[in-house]
Amino acid sequence: MNGLLTVEGIGKRFGGVRAVDDCTFAVGQGTLTGLIGPNGSGKTTVFNIVTGYLKADTGRVHFAGREVTGRDPGQLYRQGLSRTFQQARVFPQLTVLENLAVAAGYTWPQLFTRRIGRADRERAAALLEEFTLVKVADLQASELSYGQRKLLEFAAVLMSSPKLVMLDEPTAGVNPVLIQTMERHIRDRQEAGVTFLIVEHDMSFVMRLCDPVIVLEAGRPIFTGPPEQAQANPAVLDAYLGS
Ligand SMILES: Nc1ncnc2c1ncn2[C@@H]1O[C@H](COP(=O)(O)OP(=O)(O)OP(=O)(O)O)[C@@H](O)[C@H]1O
Ligand SMILES: [Mg+2]
Repeated sequence: MNGLLTVEGIGKRFGGVRAVDDCTFAVGQGTLTGLIGPNGSGKTTVFNIVTGYLKADTGRVHFAGREVTGRDPGQLYRQGLSRTFQQARVFPQLTVLENLAVAAGYTWPQLFTRRIGRADRERAAALLEEFTLVKVADLQASELSYGQRKLLEFAAVLMSSPKLVMLDEPTAGVNPVLIQTMERHIRDRQEAGVTFLIVEHDMSFVMRLCDPVIVLEAGRPIFTGPPEQAQANPAVLDAYLGS
C-alpha cells in the first residue's frame, strides 16, 4: 500500500471492547484526508496508536517510508508527525507565547533566556493575532477557555514543520469565524505540501475540506472515497443511523 502514512491490520482491545479491529488504510502524500465515523467507532484510538500514545495489540504502521510501529510520540514528532487532541493538550504552566515557542522547537533554557529568533517571534505574533489570542499571550495556558486551548494547540501545530498533521476534532468549541481562519491555514499548508488527517464531527467542514474520507465503523474502515459518495453510501448511512 502506498501513502505517506499506512496502517495495516491494527487492532486494540480495551477489556471486552474491540476499539480498533483489523484496521487498514493509507493516507496519500499531500492529501487532506478525513477520518469520520459515529461516536465510539475508534477514531481517537487509531490516532493514539499512530502517534505512539497507545500500543496496538496487532498490526503495523509505516510513516514516510519507514516502519514506526511502537515508536514513542517524541520520536514521531521529530520525524514530522504532529497532532492535536480531542481534549486539547497544551503545557498548562507555560504562557500561551511560550507554548508556541516550545512547539517551534525551542528548549527550556532558550525560553528562560528569551533567545527566540525574530522569524519565530513574528510568526507567533501573527498567529496570536489571527486567532484572537493576543490579549492572553502572557497568561498561563491553564487559564484559557476550552475553545482558546483548541486554537492554541492548532497554532502550535502551525509553528512546527510537520510532514503530516493529525487533527482530532479541531473545530469543537471554536467560533465560526475562527473555524474559517483554521480552514485557510489548513489549505495554505496543504498547498505547501503538508498532508492532513482530520477527525471531525462537523460534516460541512469535512465536506468542504476533505477528500478522500475514510469512514470507520466498529474500529474498521467501511468506506474510502470522495465525500459526496460517502454521504450517499448505504453502509455509511446505516453506520450513522445505527449508532
Ligand atoms: N482508554 C480506554 N479504556 C477503555 N475503553 C476505551 C478507552 N479508549 C477508548 N475506549 C473505547 O473504545 C471505543 C472507541 O473509542 P474512541 O475514543 O477511539 O472512539 P471515537 O471514534 O474517537 O469516538 P468519539 O467520536 O466519541 O470521539 C469506545 O467504545 C470507547 O469507549
Ligand atoms: Mg474521539
